[in-house]
Amino acid sequence: MAQTPEYTALFLENVHPDADAALQSAGPVTVKRLPGSPDRAQLESEIRTASVLGIRSRTHVDAALLDAAKDLQAVGCFCIGTNQVDLTAAAERGVPVFNAPFANTRSVAELTMASIIMLMRRIPEKMFAIDRGEWLKTADGANEVRKKKLGIIGYGNIGAQLSVIASALGMHVYFYDIAPKLAHGNARPMESLGELLSECDVVTLHVPSTARTKNMIGKDEIAQMKHGAFLINQARGDLVDVDALADALKTGHLAGAAVDVFPVEPKSKDERFESPLTSCPNVILTPHIGGSTLEAQQAIGLDAAGKLSRYLHEGSTTFAVNFPEVEPGPIQPGRTRILAPHRNRPGFLRRLNDAAEQAGANVAAQFLQTDGDLGYAVADLEGELPADFFDRVRAIDGSIRVRLIKG
Ligand code: NAI
Repeated sequence: MAQTPEYTALFLENVHPDADAALQSAGPVTVKRLPGSPDRAQLESEIRTASVLGIRSRTHVDAALLDAAKDLQAVGCFCIGTNQVDLTAAAERGVPVFNAPFANTRSVAELTMASIIMLMRRIPEKMFAIDRGEWLKTADGANEVRKKKLGIIGYGNIGAQLSVIASALGMHVYFYDIAPKLAHGNARPMESLGELLSECDVVTLHVPSTARTKNMIGKDEIAQMKHGAFLINQARGDLVDVDALADALKTGHLAGAAVDVFPVEPKSKDERFESPLTSCPNVILTPHIGGSTLEAQQAIGLDAAGKLSRYLHEGSTTFAVNFPEVEPGPIQPGRTRILAPHRNRPGFLRRLNDAAEQAGANVAAQFLQTDGDLGYAVADLEGELPADFFDRVRAIDGSIRVRLIKG
């Protein structure tokens, strides 16, 4: 009878050090760390024995790499995005992928709030002037944020967090979202984007990049904004037409902008950054660092590692990005938990139960969830299982892989 396996994790790209303890919190896992993202040959060799792969955005995980990773149980993306992983190929091989989507929410909201204050005080142009040796000591055009109108486009995690912070500073908060959202405090939902644009002193975007949001702020939308208003985009680079924004800043229709994300961003430190916004007055341009804080990195490490740990030791797939979500909870002592990702075809659960019955085991608890072509069944069995039980479950028609956890 197979025992609970001993797990090894391969952490790349300087995943936060606190991730090790979080991964080991529910049971032993040997962690191996490699700095940066190794080349393909090294990665294929290192991944052969790994039960868990922890990466950030630079390591690409495709079908061929997954095939080389015979023992791989799960992938953790210690970041927000998961584009670097072939999620379908991972699901087809019974490998759930986890990430940490909300761990940097607060960091972005804080940067946005700081940008609003800096723009409304016209700090960027004063800083540029002082660098040139000019002493621009004036109150002209400098305002407090209190009682000003903030328009938030996209009232999700970041938008809602910003709403709370801005309200605490005395701003009047308005928001526009395509989904119904509960307003925090006195924040007011707007019926349309146009209504929000024409009402607010500062407008900030916190929507994802979708077909509907691409270039959602262009020449016409900027024209609807108040003369002297401010625009902030710290969400995604394709939401704003930067040429139209640069024109509006140069003509003075907009009094300033803070932009952290761009339609074209350098892929590395060695590539030069170019944008029509660099020559504009009163702008805060930052290199896509909205969510880049030490706190966010730590939160990402704890969040992603915690999800991996729960998958290794309990089989929980809650918050997996490519897998049916099952939350079986801690396993009771004496039981054996069977984790069985499988093709979503009629009869798999029956065949799994038949295998348990033939083995003389009692099914004490059972969980099943399906999503598209993939099913994920978890069964807790009582009783001594025969030595070949693992192989019997693996041989069930539709089975993708099997893992046993001893309680
Ligand atoms: P979220 O998914 O929690 O919220 C997005 C909100 O936008 C949702 O409420 C959704 O209903 C709404 N929305 C979607 N389409 C819309 C539309 N056409 N019009 C109005 N509302 C719409 O996302 P979260 O976590 O708040 O992130 C927001 C943005 O911030 C994303 O684009 C994300 O990629 C970006 N981001 C940027 C970072 C940076 O480093 N600058 C770091 C983290 C996130």
